[in-house]
Amino acid sequence: MAFYYDEPSRTFSEYLLIPGYSSSKCVPSEVDLKTPLVRFKRGEEPGISINIPMVSAIMQSVSDDRLAVALAEEGGMSFIYGSQPVEEQAEMVKKVKRYRAGFVVSDSNVSPEMTLEDVLRLTEKTGHSTIAVTEDGGPNGKLLGIVTNKDYRLSRMSPDTRVKEFMTKFDDLVYAEEETSLKEANDIIWEHKINCLPLVNKNRELAYLVFRKDYDTHKKNENELIDNAKRYMVGAGINTRDYEMRVPALLEAGADALCIDSSEGFSEWQKITIDYIRKHYGERVKVGAGNVVDEEGFRFLADAGADFVKVGIGGGAICITREQKGIGRGQATALIEVAKARDAYYEETGVYIPICSDGGIVHDYHITLALAMGADFVMLGRYFARFDESPTKRVNINGSYMKEYWGEGSARARNWQRYDMGGEQKLSFEEGVDSLVPYAGSLKDNVNLTLSKVRSTMCNCGALTIPELQKKAKITLVSSTSIVEGGAHDVTLRNHR
Ligand code: IMP
Repeated sequence: MAFYYDEPSRTFSEYLLIPGYSSSKCVPSEVDLKTPLVRFKRGEEPGISINIPMVSAIMQSVSDDRLAVALAEEGGMSFIYGSQPVEEQAEMVKKVKRYRAGFVVSDSNVSPEMTLEDVLRLTEKTGHSTIAVTEDGGPNGKLLGIVTNKDYRLSRMSPDTRVKEFMTKFDDLVYAEEETSLKEANDIIWEHKINCLPLVNKNRELAYLVFRKDYDTHKKNENELIDNAKRYMVGAGINTRDYEMRVPALLEAGADALCIDSSEGFSEWQKITIDYIRKHYGERVKVGAGNVVDEEGFRFLADAGADFVKVGIGGGAICITREQKGIGRGQATALIEVAKARDAYYEETGVYIPICSDGGIVHDYHITLALAMGADFVMLGRYFARFDESPTKRVNINGSYMKEYWGEGSARARNWQRYDMGGEQKLSFEEGVDSLVPYAGSLKDNVNLTLSKVRSTMCNCGALTIPELQKKAKITLVSSTSIVEGGAHDVTLRNHR
């Protein structure tokens, strides 16, 4: 006979935290959100910790190199999506590792034989008005000059005028060596009253551009997540099919952690993938696995050697797995059970395996609840998709800005590997939708606001760290009637414009 659970499975919105005693020392500025990313033995430090408990979803519409840099600046980690060719994913990882705050790899470049029309087209496409002229027209070619809008007059010049005829030539440019520090670069910018300083190597090949306007925004971020060589840290998604190609390429590119991206993690495929990594790289390479929603699934992945385990099936904003296949579990119930299993595993073995609550975070307080219920960190898709830095288009719908957001199980993503059951190499039905989410501005502003709420609630619970919150939290179920009481009610909202 089938096994029946006694309790219905529940989601975050059905729970609230009850405040605990908070001392006068328990203030938001004292809260430390650092949390382990990967397994560690009792008494030892985890090989990787993140400075805020947020990672970005392994999705085309969420985690590319740009979002990864923005999130690492705030202290979290992105997992660059794996549903793209290996070389392209590795290139994104490399871009994050090469990134130096304030040093821009030029994205608008022309060769001297190109025309004013090409310049205008490029300016329109990238939105940038400083264009590097390089011998090969690439971002790191030999620098021959720079074009800005001061170099041409549309009313006086024909669109087919060659770039070499109107560019500011190299000999007239102020430039500096590639090794120049940001402070030195900015001193040169001020001294010469210029807007942009190219940095070149010994062969005069362009390395970076430093812009005057970026100076203030590139003050050090105190939470930034960096490796020993002061480079931003970044993760990458892998699948259970092409790992023999993908894993070496991602490691060579500098990925700090990997994560098997699958809608269903309680499967032999995940063990085979982890075995491959252990055989070739030992414990040195960190790999998360998932997703699971119960104790048995967690145990399986823990024993298989996963460095962290992701929890959640069917709760993602774009997810229709539950409707399509009838599998899944309310996110809160899944998390609570897996957290218990994680603690029991730690008791038994002395090995702590962090768990990640993946999907279904709608309100900021859901993050605090997830942490209180035992998550070490959360993975978010919809949340990050709304920001400037996500890879998707911003569109204007009836006067409101929206960002595109589509699931990895949607036909648009074509990510059949994520839903692979060892069968056909295509998606036979969709498990995700293609959607729009309200545009919300910069990642930095939003993450800071969200975390200020998390810190504040933690203080209400008398906790200055995530483990302390997990120990002290008092969590209550709420009735459907009291959920109504929780919003504005029995008032007529005034429409502020
Ligand atoms: P969100 O934060 O609620 O938007 O959920 C993001 C999570 O949804 C991801 O990290 C994945 O685990 C999951 N996910 C991504 N694409 C799909 C899909 O197409 N179908 C089902 N789940 C998905």
